[in-house]
Amino acid sequence: MKKTAETQVPIHDLIAERWSPRLYEARPIEREKLLGLLEAARWAASSRNLQPWHFLIATSAEPDEHAKLASCLNERNRAWAGKAPVLILVVAGVEGGEHVTSNMWYDVGLAVGNLSIQAMHSGLRLRQMGGFDRALARELYHIPESYEPVVMLAIGYQASLKGLPAEIRNSELSPRMRKPLSEFVFSGTWGQASHVLGEPAKASG
Ligand SMILES: Cc1cc2nc3c(=O)[nH]c(=O)nc-3n(C[C@H](O)[C@H](O)[C@H](O)COP(=O)(O)O)c2cc1C
Repeated sequence: MKKTAETQVPIHDLIAERWSPRLYEARPIEREKLLGLLEAARWAASSRNLQPWHFLIATSAEPDEHAKLASCLNERNRAWAGKAPVLILVVAGVEGGEHVTSNMWYDVGLAVGNLSIQAMHSGLRLRQMGGFDRALARELYHIPESYEPVVMLAIGYQASLKGLPAEIRNSELSPRMRKPLSEFVFSGTWGQASHVLGEPAKASG
């Protein structure tokens, strides 16, 4: 199922076609593709090249490990993400005791951005999840104090919507929405839509 972004000018298909489904096939992800996602993350830019990203991975090939990572998700997320063949916990931090800084949060986001575009390229889909128990993740995986669990990822091949509960089904089918560029691209002063955007489209009728 496609939910192509509506854009003022064409953008790359990998970006326009990316969206975050909640239904995945049980089919495992090929090792090479999974490695490709991690390589894409690895080659992200980062402040001082500190590369503060870490990825704790569980696949459905190891059901106990998969269940352990899924147990960190809140109930709402676990209901659908527990079926994704690959779960990842993304953790920020660097060795040497330096605590996570705002640059490191930013860097980790860039790495996951790379990973998500590589996933598109490989025919995979993913959904990021902030809804998980960070304290439990820290405890279960012995994550040191100076490192911070950031987000979890559910990754797999997108499955059909058949058999989904109505609530999830409706949200899966709903169109993707974004603010217009004029709300966040400014020139001259804060809040003033940039001239690079051109004239706003006139309302018809
Ligand atoms: C940091 C972050 C946390 C998110 N947390 C959740 C979550 O806990 N549960 C969920 O279903 N979706 C979650 N999402 C997915 C967003 O809701 C989704 O990306 C957003 O609605 C835009 O939709 P799109 O990715 O399909 O364009 C999260 C996304 C990000 C980037």
